[in-house]
Amino acid sequence: MIIAVDGPTASGKGTIAKALATHYGLPHLDTGLLYRAVGRQVALNGGNPDDAMDALAACGFADSLLDDPELRSEATGGLASRVSVHAGVRQALYERQRAFATQAGGAVLDGRDIGTVIAPETPVKLFVVASVAARAARRHAEMLAQGRAASLEGIAADLAARDERDRNRAQAPLRAAQGAVTLDTSDLDRNAAIAAAIAIVEALRA
Ligand code: DC
Repeated sequence: MIIAVDGPTASGKGTIAKALATHYGLPHLDTGLLYRAVGRQVALNGGNPDDAMDALAACGFADSLLDDPELRSEATGGLASRVSVHAGVRQALYERQRAFATQAGGAVLDGRDIGTVIAPETPVKLFVVASVAARAARRHAEMLAQGRAASLEGIAADLAARDERDRNRAQAPLRAAQGAVTLDTSDLDRNAAIAAAIAIVEALRA
C-alpha cells in the first residue's frame, strides 16, 4: 500500500504522514526535506535559488545534509519553495522518491505532488488543508516552544507567499490529485486529525 499525503506547509500533513506510517508499520519519506536540502545546498554554494543551473547543481547534495537542523528553518523552507519550481530539480529528485514509494511492502510519502506525480496510481491519497490562520497559529506556537521569536503576522504572510508560489508554478503545482480525499484540519487537534486520516485510509483501501 502506498499512502500519498499532500498539502500546503503547516497543514498537519507531516504529523499525519508519520502517524499513518507508525499505524500501518510502513516506512515514511518527508519529500519536502529533499527540496529543503537542495535549497540549503544552493545557499552553501553561494548560488541563486531562482537560477535553474545553480539549483540543478545543488541536487547532488550529500545525504548527511538531510540531518542538518537548519533544514527545518523557515528560511530554508523558502529556499526549497524557490528551487522546487525548476523542472530539472524535480526530475533529479524523482527517481529517489519513486523508488521509495514502490519498495516492497509499501510506504507513506508526504509532499506536494505525491498523488499527482510520484505515485498517481495509488488509490490511497489524502489532501490535507487548513486555513492560513490555523496554520500560522500552529507554526507560531511551535516557534515559541523552541524559544524563537516570531510575529504571527509575519508567519501568516510567509505562509501565504509560499502557498501562492507552490500552487501557481508550472511544474507539478500543489493541488488535490484525482481521487484524493481532502481533510481539513483547521478545527482538529492532533489526535482527531490522525483518527480522521486513518478513517479515510481505511475507506480508500477497502
Ligand atoms: O513540505 P515542506 O514545507 O518541507 O516543503 C518545502 C518546499 O519544498 C515547498 O514549499 C515546495 C517544495 N516541495 C515540492 O515542491 N514538492 C514536494 N513533494 C515537497 C516539497
